[in-house]
Amino acid sequence: MKLSHYATIALFLNYVTTLFHLSDLHFGPKFNAHVSELVLQDICKTQPDLTILSGDLTMRGRVEEYEQARAYIDRIPKPVLTIPGNHDQPLYPGAMWERITTPWARYIQHIHAAVDTSFEMPGVFVVGMNDNRPILPGGFWSSEQRAWMENEFKRAECGACKVLVMHHQLNWSGKRRPLGQWFPNAHLDLLKRLGVELVLNGHMHIPITIRSEQGIVLAQAGTSMSTRLRHGHYNAYNLIKISTEEIQVQIMEHDPQRDKFLSHAEHVFPREKIN
Ligand SMILES: [Fe+2]
Ligand SMILES: [Fe+2]
Repeated sequence: MKLSHYATIALFLNYVTTLFHLSDLHFGPKFNAHVSELVLQDICKTQPDLTILSGDLTMRGRVEEYEQARAYIDRIPKPVLTIPGNHDQPLYPGAMWERITTPWARYIQHIHAAVDTSFEMPGVFVVGMNDNRPILPGGFWSSEQRAWMENEFKRAECGACKVLVMHHQLNWSGKRRPLGQWFPNAHLDLLKRLGVELVLNGHMHIPITIRSEQGIVLAQAGTSMSTRLRHGHYNAYNLIKISTEEIQVQIMEHDPQRDKFLSHAEHVFPREKIN
């Protein structure tokens, strides 16, 4: 395999890319402003190469929630990559027609010009995809999105770690609520063919990291700053380090006694060797 310029430099310098992955901020009711400041302090301290927000920025997609989310994102050091979650489509009386006809107008106005987006940096290529639908619950990819994703990943430099960000979980098999991706195994097989090594998602409000049968690392972040906590987990975010050798996922969870985020678990997965 011929190495790209970026990959050669990364290999030579053994550069480690740091991703700060938070999800399910849920500006609106049950938002924990104090914890949101702790998260922001941690981002500034970490100085990641990229901060990723994997959806559910708001609770009901209200304009004031979007304005609060925008103000918070403006305080995060750039670059920042965001995708929407199922809660980012308006859901309240008087907004249902808008939800059906223009579900992402508010997201596009306040957060980012496109719901599907990508970001390239030395040694890592990130694709963010909107997997939400106005009526259909769970995560869904259209054929156009699959084709777009495939083309985006083709642009990745040889040797780059390909990362997919979406809101709903692939680690599901229909067993857990709330709903995850439709057709998770077919999606994983496609991602394997495309050479994707890491998938980031949120939605469950539970931090879980595993490696799938296809060898893809699935890192799900908990809710970073909502009080809608589940299964005994506190607020959490994922700190991800990618080198030419391995992918490391550190789950950072809020300790209410010490009032700071502490390492809750650490997972290390060797990457396939670059020849
Ligand atoms: Fe959520
Ligand atoms: Fe969600």
